[in-house]
Amino acid sequence: MYEHSLQAAEWIKAHCSQQPEIAVVLGSGLGALADAMTDRQVIPYREIPHFPISTVEGHNGNLVFGRLGGRHIMVMQGRFHYYEGYSMKELAVPIRTMKLLGIKTLLLSNAAGGLNPDYQIGDIMVLEDHINLFPENPLRGKNDERIGPRFPDMTEVYSKRLRDLFDQVARENHIKLQHGVFVGWQGPSFETPAEYRMLHLLGADAVSMSTVPEAIIARHAGLEVFGISVITNVAKAREENSHQEVQDAAGMAQPRMTLLFRELISRM
Ligand code: HPA
Repeated sequence: MYEHSLQAAEWIKAHCSQQPEIAVVLGSGLGALADAMTDRQVIPYREIPHFPISTVEGHNGNLVFGRLGGRHIMVMQGRFHYYEGYSMKELAVPIRTMKLLGIKTLLLSNAAGGLNPDYQIGDIMVLEDHINLFPENPLRGKNDERIGPRFPDMTEVYSKRLRDLFDQVARENHIKLQHGVFVGWQGPSFETPAEYRMLHLLGADAVSMSTVPEAIIARHAGLEVFGISVITNVAKAREENSHQEVQDAAGMAQPRMTLLFRELISRM
């Protein structure tokens, strides 16, 4: 599978003149950050050898290269989820391709359900840590030492340095943040009320169907990782969940998220 990432990276290098050091993955309804970039070069996933194609509404399927906050970045506008049927090995391809392109830092975002009763729709939560409840670990199988170690350390998945910097940016801009533990849920069904309660009891503050595999794959490859959740629905509401509601609530938070990411990137 590493060969797939090598071929994808070679193809991208041949088709794109930019050399970003920072990558951003945009979650459901959070695609707008890519519109704030300048000097954009858009490459549809379907053109890149071995890249999966996102099948979910609200997820465009593009790699966008360009500048934001004075830095060269690349953005995954639309991500791949385990529930779409991709194997964990397929999910690893874009992240390992980033590493091969020279990316040092990965910023992850997602739309998530709030488990912590203090959270409100539209809140932005900084990921302090995660719990992997996916049925597999993405590193299961023979380890490729060219990528990373057999038993990667997970003490600090989400960089303390970047969390502190992000907090500082939010304070200066009077933007409220939450800080919490994220849990990855395979989906695609939303949680039952009992499952929401269980996840909170386990120690999680927000839940979503992505991010954890990407964070593990990225840490294995030695990338510095940072992540936020936009809270799009709250477990305590006991109202029906829908993908539309998730996208609408994510839309509310997009201007704040774009500002925070732009500032973070400019100070990194
Ligand atoms: N559960 C799982 N994934 C989600 C949720 C949720 O409540 N909201 C947005 N993504």
